[in-house]
Amino acid sequence: MSPLPAGTRKFHLGWFGAYVPPGWNQPFEGTERSHRDWLDGSFYVDFARQLERACFDVLLLEDSSMVSDTYGGTAEATLARGVWAPKGDPIALAPLLTAATKHLGVSITASTSFYPPYLLARAVSTLDHLSGGRIGWNVVTSSEDRAAQNFGMDRLPPHDERYERAQEHVELVDALWASWEPDALVMDRATNTYVDHTKVHPIDFRGKHHSSRGPLNTLPPPQGRPVVSQAGGSPRGREFAARNADLVMALPKGVAAMKEYRDDVRARAEAFGRDPDDVKVMFIVSPVLGATESEAAERLERKREAVRADPTGQLVGWSGSMEIDFSQFDLDEPLPATARTNGHQSTLDTFRKWSGDRTLREAVHDYRTEALELVGTPESVADQMEAAMAEVGGDGFMLWMQPPTRQYVAEVTDGLVPALQRRGLVRTEYTHKHLRDNLLEF
Ligand SMILES: Cc1cc2nc3c(=O)[nH]c(=O)nc-3n(C[C@H](O)[C@H](O)[C@H](O)COP(=O)(O)O)c2cc1C
Repeated sequence: MSPLPAGTRKFHLGWFGAYVPPGWNQPFEGTERSHRDWLDGSFYVDFARQLERACFDVLLLEDSSMVSDTYGGTAEATLARGVWAPKGDPIALAPLLTAATKHLGVSITASTSFYPPYLLARAVSTLDHLSGGRIGWNVVTSSEDRAAQNFGMDRLPPHDERYERAQEHVELVDALWASWEPDALVMDRATNTYVDHTKVHPIDFRGKHHSSRGPLNTLPPPQGRPVVSQAGGSPRGREFAARNADLVMALPKGVAAMKEYRDDVRARAEAFGRDPDDVKVMFIVSPVLGATESEAAERLERKREAVRADPTGQLVGWSGSMEIDFSQFDLDEPLPATARTNGHQSTLDTFRKWSGDRTLREAVHDYRTEALELVGTPESVADQMEAAMAEVGGDGFMLWMQPPTRQYVAEVTDGLVPALQRRGLVRTEYTHKHLRDNLLEF
């Protein structure tokens, strides 16, 4: 492996996925069984093994809890396209994936608006034990009133209040994870003592939104604190991430915006008294790969053509996350300035900034859920990723493809990753047992 040029640092790779049906109507859909084998977990077990073979740090499973009917006031378009549902619970899938792998980290998404802190702390701690210290919690505040209505609320609290509640939630969960001293388990036969009760402490947490007496009724997680990740991009979201997260997933558009985002999160982390190197900012990308440049360009064009043929697919997705009914707008006009959301604010802001004068039809056609448009051979995409990281300063990328196919995962793990590894840019082996330590390695 050639030495890295001065100033170039190794970066991390993760996958931003979900427990959803694979690309059942794609040209390379997989086996006949792929219509069913995602729910029994086997598709995702293969997926996790592929990622581990390529030395990914983490597979992060996003989540939501609703069947959206924002688009046109009916769930028809959502369900026909499988956009927000069906979706399995990542907490249930995680132990299957960690049992089938030895090193890969698995991060589950759970919402601070719905999950009681005690249950969350206990579930994640248990998963951390089951995996030998490879679990992460992706903290989301949720963005959809439709989801809130599944938990007995009429609507979600306002955007910034959700973050206030989330802050208390995370502090409570942290306190529960720390409610046992690391050496509380003594297993002393002489005194017939399994756990030393003087090392297990109530937390007596009384917040504005959440309270819990504690202690947690399970042993402390192997990582101490399982890896906490977060993806909110609004100013309030960035502040929350800088204060609490070990890993931030980000979706700014282009290298300059990526650099601004990372610098901002790092500066905010420092202001909270943290070492900015302890917060890894990883950017969502979905490279279009081909054996030649022209094959990659043709594939991109085919993807665009598919979007052109069914613009509703993209609009249903946006309608669900922003809770704005995009069916009401004229496709040949820009998004009206009056459109507002209590949901993904940064998604709407980024969308507005990016779309400018584009009509909605043009926006649907041109929009891609990624920080950088990467198109080319594994070698040329590796060049582009290297150049972007050199400019941004770190810390890595989260690969993304919806719906997933084994073929696409293989193109990344067997094409792109080896090209990055040949340049010495990404890991070729796991040096640590725990996800946290792998993330902090560089
Ligand atoms: C890359 C990315 C991934 C996200 N994943 C989820 C998710 O799995 N579940 C969820 O409810 N929200 C998810 N979100 C939404 C954020 O957690 C956050 O709630 C949302 O962006 C609104 O906060 P903001 O206005 O600070 O951006 C994601 C956002 C981004 C940018």
